Amino acid sequence: MNNLATLPRLPNGDIRYPRGWFVIGVSGDFRPGEPVRMKYFEKELVGYRGLDDETVHVMDAYCPHLGAHLGVGGIIEGNNIRCPFHHWQFNTEGQCIDIPYANRIPAKACLPTWHTHESHGWVFLWHDPQGNPPLYEIPVLEEVGDPGWSKWISRRLELKTHPREIIENVADKAHFVFVHGFKEVLHFENIYEEHLATQVMQGLSQFGSTNSTRATYYGPAYQVTWMDSIFQSRLINANTPIDANTVHLWFGVLLKKQTIDANTKMLIEFMLAQQEVEVGTEISDEHIEAIQMAYVEATRKGFDEDVAIWEHKLYRTNPVLCDGDGPLAKLRKWYAQFYTDVADHPASSQ
Ligand code: FES
Ligand SMILES: [Fe+2]
Repeated sequence: MNNLATLPRLPNGDIRYPRGWFVIGVSGDFRPGEPVRMKYFEKELVGYRGLDDETVHVMDAYCPHLGAHLGVGGIIEGNNIRCPFHHWQFNTEGQCIDIPYANRIPAKACLPTWHTHESHGWVFLWHDPQGNPPLYEIPVLEEVGDPGWSKWISRRLELKTHPREIIENVADKAHFVFVHGFKEVLHFENIYEEHLATQVMQGLSQFGSTNSTRATYYGPAYQVTWMDSIFQSRLINANTPIDANTVHLWFGVLLKKQTIDANTKMLIEFMLAQQEVEVGTEISDEHIEAIQMAYVEATRKGFDEDVAIWEHKLYRTNPVLCDGDGPLAKLRKWYAQFYTDVADHPASSQ
């Protein structure tokens, strides 16, 4: 539940969605020749991978002719897409370049297009209600494709909340003990720098192991977590708003392949107890995948713990805080930059 009255608005009164890069899927979601129907930022969209350039293209979905949805039955030809209704064809700039039964193409026969970016197995969409081109970059995760690391395992959840609730985890030091079952938060620090927000944390888990994480948001919607625990892992977590109170939450887990010592063997056996995988001292791809699944389940459980709160809370504009809380005001100031015009927040153009 979200109190709509506290949401940022555009001058015309519409709900304002943040400026930035948003995940719209993993690379495998966009198969050559198959249009993908999507709805984000309250807009119906179509995405497809060009057959020649192999690039993901995204444009508004409703045909300017009589309004058919290009994501449902749209025909991909080369890098273009043809409407399923009367076969008008649009190029990657959204311009209609062919009408099979007309001599002249109307000048207004075009569709708004969106900037996309694909990197390390994920596909991103740039959103800015003012229409600015991308103002920052998504860094490449070097571990992807490295034979010393696993492949991605990823999931998508649909939540009834607003991304601002997800973002506030960055500053919420106190909830790790009460919501996620940590015994203690040993170290907690936030660093806000232009479009980056980093949380550095060391916590004592319920199993007595020390978890060290460094988690950075690149803009308002895409976070990478570097975690050193029994295994080294990388976690991606991304939020993309569908409407004012519905959001897709993606996460993906990568694990480093490493040898198992006697101390970690027991812990791993415990983690894999449900999966009936035997653990020796040599680690195989089967082990890694099984451990990765355990990480995915643990991550999912962590999100479920947050979601149980997020989906039922309201957003307090002026919360009563105590001295043990994290730097919530700083977090909110950082997040606000993505809801204002670029001219008002030059830092976001870095
Ligand atoms: S509705 Fe798309 S071509 Fe007619
Ligand atoms: Fe949390």
